[in-house]
Amino acid sequence: MVAMKNTEEKVIVVASTNQGKIREFRSMLEPEGYTVKSLADLKDMPEIEENGTTFAENAVIKAQSVTDFYGIEAISDDSGLEIDAFDRQPGVHSARYLGHDTPYSYKNQVILEKMKGIENRTCRYVCAIAWTAPGREPAVFEDTVECEIAYEPRGNNGFGYDPIIWYPPFHKTMAEMTDEEKNSISHRGKAIRKLEAWMDERK
Ligand code: IMP
Repeated sequence: MVAMKNTEEKVIVVASTNQGKIREFRSMLEPEGYTVKSLADLKDMPEIEENGTTFAENAVIKAQSVTDFYGIEAISDDSGLEIDAFDRQPGVHSARYLGHDTPYSYKNQVILEKMKGIENRTCRYVCAIAWTAPGREPAVFEDTVECEIAYEPRGNNGFGYDPIIWYPPFHKTMAEMTDEEKNSISHRGKAIRKLEAWMDERK
C-alpha cells in the first residue's frame, strides 16, 4: 500500500490486486481516518517483480518500486502461509502455489490431501509491511499468527487459505471469523498495529 501525503486527507494505496487483502486494510485503516485505494488506482505503474527470498524483502521491493516511480512515501505488505510439515512452504510463494490463477478451493483440497496422515499440523501466517520514502532507509514491520491446518474447509469469510486455517484459541477457522475477530489476532492486523504505532511516534 502507498501513503500519499495530502493536507486534506490521508490516502493509502494498497500495492496489491488481492481484494481480500484490500478489504482487510480498509476495515483496519479507514476507521483511523485513511482513504484506502488499490494499486489499480495508480496509473502507469509497471508490473512489480517479487523476486525476494523473504517476506520482508518482497515487501520492500513493492514499496520501493512505488516510491521510486512516483517519488512518494509508500507502504506495502507481503504475506503468506508457512506449513511446518512442508518445510515451511508455500511461504513467499503462497500466491503462486499450484498456479497463481488456480482457485483456492482446489489449492486447499490439495493441501488437505497432502496433510492426510501427518500428525504435525502446525502452520503460521506471516505478514511483513514495508515503509519507504525518497532518500530514506526502508522500515519493516513483521508479525505472525500461529495456527493449524484444519481437517476440512470451514467458513465463507476471509480469503485464500482461510477456510483450512484453524485458530485453536477461538476454536474456528480464519474463514469462520468476523473481520473484527480476524483483524484482532491476524498476522496482518498485528503488523499494521506496529506500523501505526511507529507512524504515531513520528507525528
Ligand atoms: P502476496 O500478495 O504476494 O503478499 O501474496 C500473499 C498470499 O498469501 C495470498 O495470495 C494468500 O495466498 C496468502 N495469504 C496471506 N495472508 C492471508 C490471509 O490472511 N488469509 C489467507 N491467505 C493469505
